[in-house]
Amino acid sequence: MLNCTHDAAGEYAALQARGAAFLGTEHAIMAGAMSWVSERHLVSAISNAGGFGVIACGAMPPALLEAEIAATQAMTDKPFGVNLITMHPQLDELVQICLRAKVTHIVFAGGIPPGPAIRAAKDGGAKVVAFAPALVLAKRFVKSGVDALVIEGSEAGGHIGPVSLTVLAQEILPHIREVPVFVAGGLARGEAILGYLEMGAAGAQLGTRFAASVESIAHPNFKQAFLKANARDALPSVQIDERFPVIPVRGLVNEGTKRFMRHQAEVLKKFQNGELDKNAAQLEIEHFWAGALRRAVIDGDVENGSVMAGQSVGMVTSIQPVAEILADLRAQALAALVARAAKA
Ligand SMILES: Cc1cc2nc3c(=O)[nH]c(=O)nc-3n(C[C@H](O)[C@H](O)[C@H](O)COP(=O)(O)O)c2cc1C
Repeated sequence: MLNCTHDAAGEYAALQARGAAFLGTEHAIMAGAMSWVSERHLVSAISNAGGFGVIACGAMPPALLEAEIAATQAMTDKPFGVNLITMHPQLDELVQICLRAKVTHIVFAGGIPPGPAIRAAKDGGAKVVAFAPALVLAKRFVKSGVDALVIEGSEAGGHIGPVSLTVLAQEILPHIREVPVFVAGGLARGEAILGYLEMGAAGAQLGTRFAASVESIAHPNFKQAFLKANARDALPSVQIDERFPVIPVRGLVNEGTKRFMRHQAEVLKKFQNGELDKNAAQLEIEHFWAGALRRAVIDGDVENGSVMAGQSVGMVTSIQPVAEILADLRAQALAALVARAAKA
């Protein structure tokens, strides 16, 4: 039995080796950046525990990001990344802030990263990570010099694409060997991560489980909402009219998500009777969620705020320290390998 466990550890280390080497960590586990949640305390705790924390820059202005990076560096000497949203109006400046602070990994999210931003980050010595929502884009990113990819399935919390991780993994993992690929969306157990590593993933990215950790600064109401929720409670936002697109965001159904449907119906009525033109109506729909994530995460208003969460929320059953979450994931993967070896 002891021998078996030892082999399992070696086998798991080999499966994680590429991802761990890329991140410079013990575990090939990235904590997905989460606006308002992924700040100095959570990011440093994850990196100190052997995972890879990522600061969510979100809409922060450059000076605020600079301060957050410095504060995180004061709390850990382990590697961590910074997630930049590609449509941020000061993207180039943010890249320079990361480079000046010697951030090792820059993750571009929220769209196709512009070539000059990729080049600037690489020329400055950072590794570049991008989200690939389809195989053609994955290939294009590899050609443009991206060092690693994240494929995030629609099971994930926050802004999502239309395709599940089950399908993205089959479409992309067998065809991208040039760079490490990390899988994300709906992951909460080590057996699942093991399965994707065996399919060729270099590692995994999790968000929801870390948002509900002890070290997360999210309001206790936010964490309690995660504890109570089942997978089926984490649904994508609903668009009621094809002329007025709604960016799909997965989160817990609450009073806010119900009001959003009524809000869209009211705006639509105003558009139909000529009170609002198309642009104004679209803006009214988009403005509904302004500040809503902060309201839920920081203020604890989980009824009216945006409680972004992945389907993995159903597997959040206690508020654990991040080190324990990482240890659990590893133990579950090892147990699966041991059980398999025992059957053979
Ligand atoms: C509360 C919350 C906020 C998020 N904010 C961001 C963000 O600002 N930028 C980003 O790239 N991804 C964001 N995400 C996605 C995560 O980084 C991660 O990819 C996702 O949570 C993985 O799926 P999981 O929640 O099922 O683990 C967010 C997710 C959650 C739950």
